[in-house]
Amino acid sequence: MTVPLVLPTLLGDAVRLRAFTTADLPTIREAATDPHIPLITSVPARGDDDACLAFLARQSDRTATGAGYAFAIAEIASDRAVGHAYLGLRDLDLGRATVGYWVVASQRGRGFAADAVRTLVRWAPAVQGVTRLELYVEPWNVASARTAERAGFVQEGMLRSWETVGDERRDMEMYALVLDQD
Ligand SMILES: CC(C)(COP(=O)(O)OP(=O)(O)OC[C@H]1O[C@@H](n2cnc3c(N)ncnc32)[C@H](O)[C@@H]1OP(=O)(O)O)[C@@H](O)C(=O)NCCC(=O)NCCS
Repeated sequence: MTVPLVLPTLLGDAVRLRAFTTADLPTIREAATDPHIPLITSVPARGDDDACLAFLARQSDRTATGAGYAFAIAEIASDRAVGHAYLGLRDLDLGRATVGYWVVASQRGRGFAADAVRTLVRWAPAVQGVTRLELYVEPWNVASARTAERAGFVQEGMLRSWETVGDERRDMEMYALVLDQD
């Protein structure tokens, strides 16, 4: 049975995690031109506006179908969306959730990803049944590794040839964070 989720709004120091709206289209347009984001997400590579709007619609579908919580990362001051943070619940019956994130290139290096992931992690114990958060980082992706570590994730090991990114099988470093059980 599908259990719809209710997406909360979460406040960090510099970002608000909130639902995407169609007003966030310019952010998805920028993400669609990124060399990396479309390879690792369902953001449409060089997508036109229809494809970008379909991406936005899919994010609310995730909540409606219980697949996960898809947040826009919005700068608090302007409410402008700068990226995406996701908590995926596919393995919730095993007590595990996956975390994903991206920030558009024009807004990187301002601490938005680190604040967003920390904010997500602080809230995660409120999701019933989640005891462990996992994420996967390509070995070259220092910015993502630092983002994960800043939020309390610990590197656990290399998963060889873990998934296809673009046309290639890629190794992934697994990072995880075990939530307090109290
Ligand atoms: C990874 C990503 C989300 C980081 O976003 P960001 O908003 O620029 O990150 P922040 O500014 O919050 O920085 C977080 C940490 O990474 C470090 N960092 C950021 N960019 C970096 C870079 N290019 N090289 C090395 N370290 C970097 C920061 O210094 C900070 O670490 P510190 O607090 O120890 O100084 C962004 O680069 C991105 O979207 N990349 C493409 C998509 C992607 O790789 N997603 C993750 C998939 S696992």
